[in-house]
Amino acid sequence: MLGSWSASGLAEGRRLVVVTRDATSPDPDLAAAAVWGLVRVAQAEYPGHIVLADADDSPESAAALRAARASGEPVLAIRAGTILVPRLTETGREEGGPGGEAVGTLDTRGTVLVTGGTGALGSVLARHLATHHSARHLLLASRRGEAADGVDALRAELADLGVSVRVAACDISDRAAVRALVTAADPPLSAIVHAAGVLDDGVLDALTPQRMAKVLRPKVDAAWHLHELARDLGLSSFVLFSSAAGLLGNAGQANYAAANAFLDALARHRAARGLPALSLVWGPWLHAGGMAGAVRHGPLAPVTDEQGLSLFDAALASPEPVLAPLLLDRAWNGPVPELLRGLLRRARPTAGTTSQEEGPGTWRRRLAPLPPGERLAALVEAVRAEVATVLGHAGADEVRLDRSFAELGLDSLAGVMLRNRLSTLTGLRLPATVAFDHPGTEQLAGHLLDLLGEALPQREHEALPQPEPGPVKSLIAPLYRRMSQAGQEVEAMRMLVVASMALPTFPSELRQAHALPPERLATGPGGTALICFPDFYPRVATGIYGRLADLFAGERDVYEIPYPGLSGGGVVPEDWHTLIDLHTETIQRHFGERPVVLAGYSVGGCTAQAVATRLTEAGTPPAGIAMIDTYHVTGENEAEQWLLGMPAHRAAQLGELFDELFDDTSLVAMGAYTRILRGWQPRPAGAPTLLLRAQDPLPYLGEHPPGGSAWPPPVDIVEVPGHHFQLITDRIGTTTSALRTWISTLP
Ligand SMILES: NC(=O)c1ccc[n+]([C@@H]2O[C@H](COP(=O)([O-])OP(=O)(O)OC[C@H]3O[C@@H](n4cnc5c(N)ncnc54)[C@H](OP(=O)(O)O)[C@@H]3O)[C@@H](O)[C@H]2O)c1
Repeated sequence: MLGSWSASGLAEGRRLVVVTRDATSPDPDLAAAAVWGLVRVAQAEYPGHIVLADADDSPESAAALRAARASGEPVLAIRAGTILVPRLTETGREEGGPGGEAVGTLDTRGTVLVTGGTGALGSVLARHLATHHSARHLLLASRRGEAADGVDALRAELADLGVSVRVAACDISDRAAVRALVTAADPPLSAIVHAAGVLDDGVLDALTPQRMAKVLRPKVDAAWHLHELARDLGLSSFVLFSSAAGLLGNAGQANYAAANAFLDALARHRAARGLPALSLVWGPWLHAGGMAGAVRHGPLAPVTDEQGLSLFDAALASPEPVLAPLLLDRAWNGPVPELLRGLLRRARPTAGTTSQEEGPGTWRRRLAPLPPGERLAALVEAVRAEVATVLGHAGADEVRLDRSFAELGLDSLAGVMLRNRLSTLTGLRLPATVAFDHPGTEQLAGHLLDLLGEALPQREHEALPQPEPGPVKSLIAPLYRRMSQAGQEVEAMRMLVVASMALPTFPSELRQAHALPPERLATGPGGTALICFPDFYPRVATGIYGRLADLFAGERDVYEIPYPGLSGGGVVPEDWHTLIDLHTETIQRHFGERPVVLAGYSVGGCTAQAVATRLTEAGTPPAGIAMIDTYHVTGENEAEQWLLGMPAHRAAQLGELFDELFDDTSLVAMGAYTRILRGWQPRPAGAPTLLLRAQDPLPYLGEHPPGGSAWPPPVDIVEVPGHHFQLITDRIGTTTSALRTWISTLP
């Protein structure tokens, strides 16, 4: 079905919504789960074209489908009409599970069956079970059995450790063979680790029923046989080796993804029936051989044997039936799969660069200013660099122009990945076969230039006055800056506020999908963590708290919690309550019972106050709230020039550099945050509250309140030297000292 749709639907630019039933519920439909895994890969192969919604069968959920489709989320679940979006979260620290101290054990009193036990990870695990879990009876099963590579050495090593090993040649997708294996075990089985599997990668269009079955059999059929035939043996552990290919969707692995999604669902199915179950959704292992080399890494860092095995031990301590022992590559700067967005953010662009450099249609903008005669050469080099990337080469010069794609080793998967990249960079809708319809780099570049032709200026003199290629030229940023420079601060903010109505928003029900993790800026032994909320300005480089954090380094932990949509993305909360609920839950999740002081500079103080009140209402009040020159915004002053002059001041000061630093969407998001704050009034937060007030008046003309910033009682006010902007820059030393002194007085 997906194949026939891709032929027609893609060409017409349509979107397909695939609805599965109960594929991801706690007691899932196992077949639907396999389809879910397969569609995850289809989504990776046709980015932006497929929505995957897993619904229950309530009429409310059917009615919510339209809203689900409009949410812009590519993968979601609908339960009793409520839309849920999946995000992986860290687990186990509290209970001492993965990431914590405790390790679990496998019951090795009987025989432990390891399927795929002669493979790369199976044999590593067999040794580990002997050395760390005191296994004395191991049954290692694979089709080749004794004939598999390295079996003699493995057997000898295990024998030295006092283990009695039986290596069985058994196709575990064969039910009768599994029955014989399971019943003949002596002593009887006490645990099973199912690590058998095969790969047969290929793009969806190329997957035949035979290629699907080849990969499904050793995972799906085998796991089901093991589940049924060992059901009455009283096993203590039933561990399945699964892969992130299903969860995250790896292009080119639809069969493998379906198989692994089935394993995850089987673990839930067993757990729902009170049977032992643990499916481990592995990312890549560094281990040479086996499937490791075939797993693409993306934002997942490969685990060493030692890391993988200690994650295995930790996972055994958890009651969760499905865990993803993944190492995240914090330096990853590519796209982050939706499911990882609560844990990993794309590395922040620094000043002067923008994430749009590689964004949709980038190449059109790069080619437009070039004289027409130079465009083909430029495009050849650009295509060459992309071919190098998908082939895993270090640089474009490793792609010889006199070689065809076939000679260069471009397979169907690499072809699809290349098509996806080229579609994004050119802004053109390209067929999956585009790389194979043209023999090599130069011919493909020529074809793309023909397609782009109409979108590019045709005559040289039209091309010349164009500015340097680079980020999309912004419109709103220079307008906001010029109005600020002209003293029209109120109108400038009004423009951002009005424009912000066009930004996509997320409702309260979907807030968790937009949660951003706290970013640690400094570490120190102090028990109380300082959690800072910025003002509504899009962050540049280290942000406003970089220097404050440096001064607290070695003393206490300092974190910053960013606002969703403010730096890139532009999807903002629907209203202030949604934002405050989101931040409150982020703090509860990441800090638990730990004492925290919430701080906020300028309007960030309002956020700190509102979150503190919500935490107090939830029974977990913060140790204190520190506002750094925060003004109390009311219906009377919200449109005053002196108030709106604060954000405008930065624009006026930076001049044209401002236009480079801030993109339109981020600035409009600032307008959105200013808008949703309107009408909010603080209530006593039930925690000690400090206002660090700037001694000097705001450094621009215009009437402003005498005495400076103010906040409704109860609040301790401490005056610090400098004006509003200096408190967090030139005078940060005295600001930090005052804050430090106050924190030391807290109970
Ligand atoms: N390595 C990684 O980076 C990685 C990442 C994520 C998940 N995983 C998962 O971890 C498991 C082990 O991976 P690996 O890297 O160790 O792969 P591997 O070296 O290829 O091992 C797979 C094992 O499965 C056996 N096998 C395949 N079909 C079988 C069948 N029908 N009956 C019995 N045995 C069969 C193979 O032996 P025969 O060919 O002799 O049958 C082999 O011993 C797999 O389930 C994989 O999905 C691995």
